[in-house]
Amino acid sequence: MVQTINQAASLRGTVSLPADKSISHRSAILSALGDGRSRVYNFPNSADPQSTLDCVRTLGIEAGRNDEGVLAIDGRGLGGLHPPSEPLDCGNSGTTMRLLTGVMAGQEFGSVLTGDESLQQRPMERIADPLKAMGARINLRSGHAPIRVRPQQGGLRPLEYRLPVASAQVKSCVLLAGLYASGRTVVIETTPSRDHTERMLGLEVEEVGGERHIIVEEGHTVPAVDWSVPGDFSGAAFFLVAGTLVPDSELHLDDVGLNPSRTALLDVLDGMGADITVENERVQGSEPVGDITVRSAELSGIDVGGTLIPNLIDEIPVIAVAAACANGRTEIRDAEELRVKETDRLHAMAQNLEALGATVQEREDGLIIDGNGPNLLGAAVQSHDDHRIAMAMGVAGLVAHGTTTIADAECARVSFPGFWDELSRVSVA
Ligand code: S3P
Repeated sequence: MVQTINQAASLRGTVSLPADKSISHRSAILSALGDGRSRVYNFPNSADPQSTLDCVRTLGIEAGRNDEGVLAIDGRGLGGLHPPSEPLDCGNSGTTMRLLTGVMAGQEFGSVLTGDESLQQRPMERIADPLKAMGARINLRSGHAPIRVRPQQGGLRPLEYRLPVASAQVKSCVLLAGLYASGRTVVIETTPSRDHTERMLGLEVEEVGGERHIIVEEGHTVPAVDWSVPGDFSGAAFFLVAGTLVPDSELHLDDVGLNPSRTALLDVLDGMGADITVENERVQGSEPVGDITVRSAELSGIDVGGTLIPNLIDEIPVIAVAAACANGRTEIRDAEELRVKETDRLHAMAQNLEALGATVQEREDGLIIDGNGPNLLGAAVQSHDDHRIAMAMGVAGLVAHGTTTIADAECARVSFPGFWDELSRVSVA
């Protein structure tokens, strides 16, 4: 599907957000491993969390929604999964594949995890290496999926693992495998990444000399829990930038997840001069949430890099759009991980923003963008079948003069099924 976006005069209203993708994946997996029925309030229809739910069903777990849409998942305990009769299809979802491989590594039955063309090109040694060090028997195809996990008799060995790459998916994979290890597994993070897994599992975290040590003790069980998934901050990000860039705008976003390991975008936008207020901060289950209002503001360029990057890893495409419309230079550094996401996001954003007339230099680990105020010109751009590229370019299209078309824009459904409707609903022509 080609999505057409016209320049908007203003954006007004309350945005309806999908539930947080990261928390949804974890709620489905942890519910499956829990003892008894868990309920997940606000589980989304987004394609990625649905992939996790489908995999969990393939592992013999019953899950269904009631009339109010609440998802009930009948967990069977750590040892209760069934051997899958087919490969676990993770679709486009790296989180599904990397987290579930951690669980599969500890099972007495074998499994195969596969995914779409994009997922089959993403690096998987980063999980295979620590899992093999725990005694798991894993085969990749040239470092990629399909992943074959052989039956594990007698449990995994515990591991102390210092993450070589700041990745919440790798961290979570090892922690989930640690549930099946005979002893204490410790994952050491030198640069913090999103901490939903440790929060939701109630794991002990020690701060040691500036590092985070996350600990899974042998025998840690997973209780059946009622989860309530907040609105997705990474989905909100598109509207925070759009509401800032489009003149005469005011948007409200309610019940947004505000986990501090995810919200560095707020600091970056604040540093660029945005007008964003957060109110009604509260805690929902294990996660902080709040309501956000964004109003239009003129932005200046900024430097983004270092330990901030994992905190805003999924927001970089839309930060690049903000940068292209700011005054002055923005430099994004230390973001080479973007090259191994659903597509090479640095290259995709450089190409797309250049098509709209922005001045962008692509670096190995980032982008240098010379912002040119509100001077983008509508053009035809490519999503590269990557939801965050499609949505970031949707935001750019609202600001660019004239009309922008985005090819293969339906991929937004991976994390935000109603995105295009929502964008047009709040747009004033
Ligand atoms: C995620 C972690 C991040 C992020 C992804 C979701 C998670 O990936 O980009 O969208 O839920 O753990 P990496 O761990 O590969 O950085």
